[in-house]
Amino acid sequence: MLDLKGRNIVSIDDLTREELIQLINTALRLKDELYVGESHEVLHGKTLGMIFEKPSLRTRVAFESAMTQLGGHAIYLGPNDIKLGKRETTEDIARVLSSMANVITARVFAHKTVKDLAEYSKVPVINALSDFEHPTQIVGDMLTIKERFGGFEGLKLTFVGDGNNVAHSLMYAGAKLGMHVVIVSPKGYEPSSNVMKKCEKISKETFAKIESVNDIDAVAGADIVYTDVWASMGQESEAEERKKIFAPYQVNSHLMSLTKPTAIFMHCLPAHYGDELTEEVGHGPQSVIFQEAENRLHSIKAMLVHLTR
Ligand code: CP
Ligand code: NVA
Repeated sequence: MLDLKGRNIVSIDDLTREELIQLINTALRLKDELYVGESHEVLHGKTLGMIFEKPSLRTRVAFESAMTQLGGHAIYLGPNDIKLGKRETTEDIARVLSSMANVITARVFAHKTVKDLAEYSKVPVINALSDFEHPTQIVGDMLTIKERFGGFEGLKLTFVGDGNNVAHSLMYAGAKLGMHVVIVSPKGYEPSSNVMKKCEKISKETFAKIESVNDIDAVAGADIVYTDVWASMGQESEAEERKKIFAPYQVNSHLMSLTKPTAIFMHCLPAHYGDELTEEVGHGPQSVIFQEAENRLHSIKAMLVHLTR
């Protein structure tokens, strides 16, 4: 077994291919155990500190339920509780919280904040979403893909929309797992060129292919179509302008008809029906969005177990 104890997960790139696969396999085992009612309270007496600068349904409930099911305890610290960076510095918060909690998760605006927390914390820090990455989402999504397809190599995943935090984490995971990931976005909204360069390097060893294009026809033959909101948390002031720019990138039945008949539709949620997806696709037979949401729980449990036990 690989040793992830004490490590941070700020980026999917913090994990090797083998570690990522191990997390997915542990998540599968924990899911099976939960379904048959087998207890796995292996984090008895352990505390998770949760710093949230932004709203959340899935991530917050997944982390809190995870700690309950693992026999530990979670403390939620919302935007008005500690006022990160305003009432106290990030560095001091990391030092104090890590002197009491056994593991920390943080949902932040600036990616640098979660990096700083990891630097000054004595205990593992898990990124619960920053403006640059969403690693816990993508470990859960890889579990969903494994459940559906049995593996990853050679699968074509087309992410349609903004080259955002979710897109970056998908690119890293796809590169490590030997997938063909195509980010299809309007001009000016492509993913980070730095992430692309790193993924190209990783892909040389894994035979993955990671691309960024503007042409929506790139969904042709996809096994997986993935989309996310056009304006992420923190970009609300751009929402109206983005609606016009992103309109041709809506995932609707016509777009899905260009993919493989066996293709699935994914969305990290929350969804804006009528914008980045239609209700027909989101709640249609190809959609796995609620399986994805549930898998956040099982994958977060796997991360907590490997990092703290
Ligand atoms: N997908 C996701 O992270 O959902 P929440 O913002 O509700 O946590
Ligand atoms: N890109 C979205 C993901 C939400 C889970 C955001 O950052 O708001």
